[in-house]
Amino acid sequence: MRDNSSTGREALQLDVAALRADTPGCRRVIHFNNAGCGLMAAPVTDAMVGHLNLEARIGGYEASAARAAEVRAFYTEIAALINTTPDNIAFAGSATHAYANALSAIPFETDDVILTTRDDFVSNQIAFLSLRKRFGVRIVHAPNTPDGGVDVEAMAALMRTHRPRLVSATHVPTNSGLVSPVAEIGRHCRELDLLYLVDACQSVGQLAVDVAEIGCDFLTATCRKFLRGPRGSGFLYVSDRVLRAGHEPLFIDMHGARWTEPGGYEPAGTAARFEEWEFPYATVLGSATATRYAREVGIEAIEQRTPALAARLRDRLAPIPGVRVLDRGPRLAALVTFGVAGWQRQPFKAAMDARGINSSLSLREFAQFDFGDKDVDWCLRLSPHYYNTEEEVDHVAHVVAELAGQGRR
Ligand SMILES: Cc1ncc(COP(=O)(O)O)c(C=O)c1O
Repeated sequence: MRDNSSTGREALQLDVAALRADTPGCRRVIHFNNAGCGLMAAPVTDAMVGHLNLEARIGGYEASAARAAEVRAFYTEIAALINTTPDNIAFAGSATHAYANALSAIPFETDDVILTTRDDFVSNQIAFLSLRKRFGVRIVHAPNTPDGGVDVEAMAALMRTHRPRLVSATHVPTNSGLVSPVAEIGRHCRELDLLYLVDACQSVGQLAVDVAEIGCDFLTATCRKFLRGPRGSGFLYVSDRVLRAGHEPLFIDMHGARWTEPGGYEPAGTAARFEEWEFPYATVLGSATATRYAREVGIEAIEQRTPALAARLRDRLAPIPGVRVLDRGPRLAALVTFGVAGWQRQPFKAAMDARGINSSLSLREFAQFDFGDKDVDWCLRLSPHYYNTEEEVDHVAHVVAELAGQGRR
């Protein structure tokens, strides 16, 4: 629904009451853990349960054959969401699996450079360290600006000096609301013809993500977070450049390739090359439904409302004595992180749980650089979504204020 009374960027209104009515979880909890896992809408669970029942009635292989068109919709929906074609999309059981598969397609050699940022996701950093251990690659981290977030010009200079085998960036990290300028980084990668891998796990479903604009070669995401799909689902985008260059995952199987003769195989021409034969079909159908649902709600409207709810929460948390809001950077998404004086992490999270508020803890080991720079060992992460309300935001801030007061006693 459009509100033409606004000035500047058109304000898009959502029917929040209807969206909440579609979301059974809203009746039970204040779910501010969408960066962990979003609440599924009823059509998503209906699609999954329906398919499981069909499998039970007619057989698993027969059920997937009967639902082939709906399975195909997973690819068309995700492709439309991120502005590419279905042939560039591979289903993955997790964002991490998609990421590892992409990395495995790059023939790293000793002294190859991986250029990344200080805000790249923890598992990506561990994967780079593992590649260093096995292949002797070098890992270079671009510096941040004083305001937070990567210094794109400094990163571009590092691209020119090191000619990295891979450039990697995380769009929105797990441990703060930072939005990284992935399209600006991508422009430099394209100019210099460098392989570029983007982790969009926290941005897909809350921000517009356009792979053509970003200029990446690979992009990874989960469906369970801001896309509100089921657990155990994600995807990998693979560019035509990568497919044409013949990059393929290290462990390619009988779905990703055809065994054409005893001594040879032929990889699929599409991103299916990065998939495995076995699929969790109910999950794939749930993910397709969740993606369609998000597109029908409208990504532009979601992108307006979701970070705005988070900004409202930060505004209310920042003045509370003993609370330190930790998000920094020129643009912030719907992950709100903060520390509270006088509390240990587990009791604080438990106190939020006891008040019916879902949240999540971030630890130093998830973000060695960022938490080192901020000099914190943990923080609480609150991540609202468009179906949360302003009243919930205010209530959560009120609860944090009450708890922070107890911590100071
Ligand atoms: C930025 C980011 N990347 C990747 C992941 C990993 O996703 P998955 O658990 O689906 O492997 C997460 C999970 O929290 C994340 O926040």
